[in-house]
Amino acid sequence: MGIEYRRFDLSKISELQHVQRLIDEDLSEPYSVYVYRYFLNQWPELCYLAISPTEPQPIGCIVCKAEEHRGARLRGYIGMLAVTKEYRKRGIAKRLVGIAIEQMRKMGCDEIMLEAEVENQAALRLYEGMGFIRVKRMFRYYLNQGDAFKLILPVTEKSCIRSTFLLQPETEVL
Ligand SMILES: CC(C)(COP(=O)(O)OP(=O)(O)OC[C@H]1O[C@@H](n2cnc3c(N)ncnc32)[C@H](O)[C@@H]1OP(=O)(O)O)[C@@H](O)C(=O)NCCC(=O)NCCS
Repeated sequence: MGIEYRRFDLSKISELQHVQRLIDEDLSEPYSVYVYRYFLNQWPELCYLAISPTEPQPIGCIVCKAEEHRGARLRGYIGMLAVTKEYRKRGIAKRLVGIAIEQMRKMGCDEIMLEAEVENQAALRLYEGMGFIRVKRMFRYYLNQGDAFKLILPVTEKSCIRSTFLLQPETEVL
């Protein structure tokens, strides 16, 4: 259907507005602009937009980050994902997640993490279908009192080893 997937452009203010519009549409309480800036200013290479040739504005987006976790491994994180209602169930989210995973792998991420609401069947099926594993249930995690599942996609062997055992022993002082 000719959907184009491209990287977020930090130099254009309109790009941030597109991401904000797409994500805010599905939130009961909108994020502050600082939340968007936190992700987009620091990891613009981990944000992608889906563009339809027949729509004036992007129809989907994914926002991620990658950081060292407990000094032992590099953890990618999917912070936000949304596809406009009229364009859902066409594989657009799956492509966006696939592109983001590929980019985080290239950056050397050992694992990729996210949280999804327990009631969000669409998101859970999407992520579990792509290999993410439920590792924890977090009670009343969201403002609406809903519980969340924490999901992880292991990328390297490090992801399956407790961080305590990955830490380098301190150099012995003689
Ligand atoms: C979740 C969301 C991003 C899915 O977008 P999408 O483009 O419709 O998803 P895709 O078409 O790529 O679907 C991929 C897989 O997800 C699952 N899925 C998607 N929508 C689903 C639904 N309504 N019910 C059950 N499973 C669903 C299916 O397993 C599907 O694979 P299949 O088509 O081979 O069965 C979209 O519904 C959305 O924007 N929701 C609101 C925001 C949100 O919940 N974001 C995720 C926060 S964690």
